[in-house]
Amino acid sequence: MSDSNEKKIIIAIDGYSSCGKSTVAKEIAKKLNYVFIDSGAMYRAVTLFCLRNGLVAGGTVNLTKLPEKLESVHITFAFNPATAHNDIFLNGENVETEIRQLAVAQNVSQIAAIADVRRLMVAQQQEMGRTKGIVMDGRDIGTVVFPEAELKIFMTADAKIRAQRRYDEMIAKNEKVDFQEILKNITDRDRFDETRDESPLRRAEDAIVLDNSHMTREEQFEWILGKVEEKIKKHG
Ligand code: DC
Repeated sequence: MSDSNEKKIIIAIDGYSSCGKSTVAKEIAKKLNYVFIDSGAMYRAVTLFCLRNGLVAGGTVNLTKLPEKLESVHITFAFNPATAHNDIFLNGENVETEIRQLAVAQNVSQIAAIADVRRLMVAQQQEMGRTKGIVMDGRDIGTVVFPEAELKIFMTADAKIRAQRRYDEMIAKNEKVDFQEILKNITDRDRFDETRDESPLRRAEDAIVLDNSHMTREEQFEWILGKVEEKIKKHG
């Protein structure tokens, strides 16, 4: 499967939030010896940059100052052998932990909806995929970043099931959570992602839908791997 003579492809995985896209994308990349890029982490890193540079005040982004400041945003990834994870770096600093903070989560949707931010991220993402052999997950990978990707998957799951998974994860970490609040957050984010003007979340016409509401992680992995094998045979 990861024979170096085999032609490498681009795998685009888009879909709703909290569907487990990054988890399965990372496993597939590992199996194929491909690079895994979590594009959501890139929007989170830009958000962290904006927060640190005073570009967000009272929940509003300063759109006048943003464009010139964006020129100094450089995002890279480097494989961390200790965690087997592709860590994200903002201007050379490992920000893997910082991008998961609440303040980032609360502001990332509006930052990701800004045209200048998307242009910059899409250009960097396309550069990362130049040599193929990449699995990238996000919202617009199959539609905008790699419309020519050989394999496009659109992941979805019932909102209540996604909320239950998040709830279970947080309970396991002893966090105090309310199921209805999580569900509302998920449905709000779905609506926001689908209705924004800039690169809204939508299924590319040639994307294959994976509804994982009633699938285990292993079943999802096998399902995607099956699709990869078909595509590699076709394009190889
Ligand atoms: O996948 P995530 O929750 O880490 O994504 C963080 C935010 O970035 C979320 O608001 C959706 C947005 N996003 C996007 O607009 N385009 C992408 N390709 C990936 C994420």
